[in-house]
Amino acid sequence: MLGHHVTAATARVGMVGGGQLARMTHAAAIDLGIELHVLATTPTDPAVLAGASHRIGEPDDLAALTAFAGEVDVVTLDHELVDESHLEVLAAAGHPVRPHAAALLHAKDKLHARTQLDALGLPVPAFTAVEDVDQVVAFAAEHRWPVVMKARRGGYDGRGVAVVDGPDQAADVLSRGGDWMVEALVDIHIEVAVLLARRPGGQHVAYPLIETVQRDGICVELIQPARVDDSVATAAIELGTRVADAVDGVGIIAVELFVGRDGALTINELALRPHNSGHATIEASTTSQFHNHLRAVLDWPLGDTSMRTPVAALVNLLGPDGPDRIADRLPAALGIADAQIHLYGKVSRPGRKLGHITVLGDNVEVARERAWAATNLLVGRDQTG
Ligand SMILES: Nc1ncnc2c1ncn2[C@@H]1O[C@H](COP(=O)(O)OP(=O)(O)OP(=O)(O)O)[C@@H](O)[C@H]1O
Ligand SMILES: [Mg+2]
Repeated sequence: MLGHHVTAATARVGMVGGGQLARMTHAAAIDLGIELHVLATTPTDPAVLAGASHRIGEPDDLAALTAFAGEVDVVTLDHELVDESHLEVLAAAGHPVRPHAAALLHAKDKLHARTQLDALGLPVPAFTAVEDVDQVVAFAAEHRWPVVMKARRGGYDGRGVAVVDGPDQAADVLSRGGDWMVEALVDIHIEVAVLLARRPGGQHVAYPLIETVQRDGICVELIQPARVDDSVATAAIELGTRVADAVDGVGIIAVELFVGRDGALTINELALRPHNSGHATIEASTTSQFHNHLRAVLDWPLGDTSMRTPVAALVNLLGPDGPDRIADRLPAALGIADAQIHLYGKVSRPGRKLGHITVLGDNVEVARERAWAATNLLVGRDQTG
């Protein structure tokens, strides 16, 4: 099948999912002469619109996955919606799957990740699985209200996360159905992401630490390098690397961390795929996360992760509440000459990530202002936080 012997001209990487991550991976694949194939759910998925070879199929359909795996040299992922047992079947049939099923489970199941990392002595918030309100109340009695309730599986953009301040709210959350866990509310100073690329066998490179800014559980803004002391950045990258090694991830791995008001680091969650926090690497880094994801899953030498600019600021373009005219407003936003605008070709929904805007510079406040100015022109209103 493949390994070190595949030449760039012939490598075929299969990505399950055709979203914006696959779309930007496709752009990197073009640079390297790699064929990116995607298993997309619709012909209008962002990566399909961008011209990636595709097959239409559901990520939980084993027959579709098997046919897809037969067309490519290595299978990788754009999202966490693949059933891990299906990935095991593909691997047993001899298809390289990177990351492998056991690693992916840490991204799919928050309780599993907490339990595993905690057992290794890595810092996670206090947590426990809950099935009824009494268990939430008992946890809060020990750790104080408010507590954070999280869906074990399937959450994204804060949808499976609720800060609850009493039994009634906890009952509301549990009534949504599914499996829940509860954890202590961390007193957060800032949130950061450790972004790494890791090859089979463990060789890896880490990017300079990224600061993530969330509003209502959704990441709205990113700053690289994160505005923390060097000692905190070093400790964060060390911790992220231990997590990546512990789960034996391959490809891009993002480890979201909380930096507490006391400076302590706590692990939030991890992703085993290119990550929103790394989108600025397209312009800001010598090697983008998308190039390094391809290189890592093909077991090729990894690229330099250093920044080509002192700072990068990135704003996520989120879907408005009403019908949107972003395409009409694009020329006006392009008037901000140093704003790098990326649109994903997605239909707008409230709060949905439709694109992002990156500005590089010497001064973080100037770069942020320029990125927000371009964003506000694109959305036609003041979205600035
Ligand atoms: N224990 C906690 N204490 C304080 N804040 C928390 C805690 N857990 C989560 N949060 C807040 O909620 C946000 C979303 O949580 P989390 O990353 O677990 O959810 P998600 O929906 O999977 O997010 P993503 O958008 O990254 O997919 C975090 O970035 C953080 O701001
Ligand atoms: Mg998160």
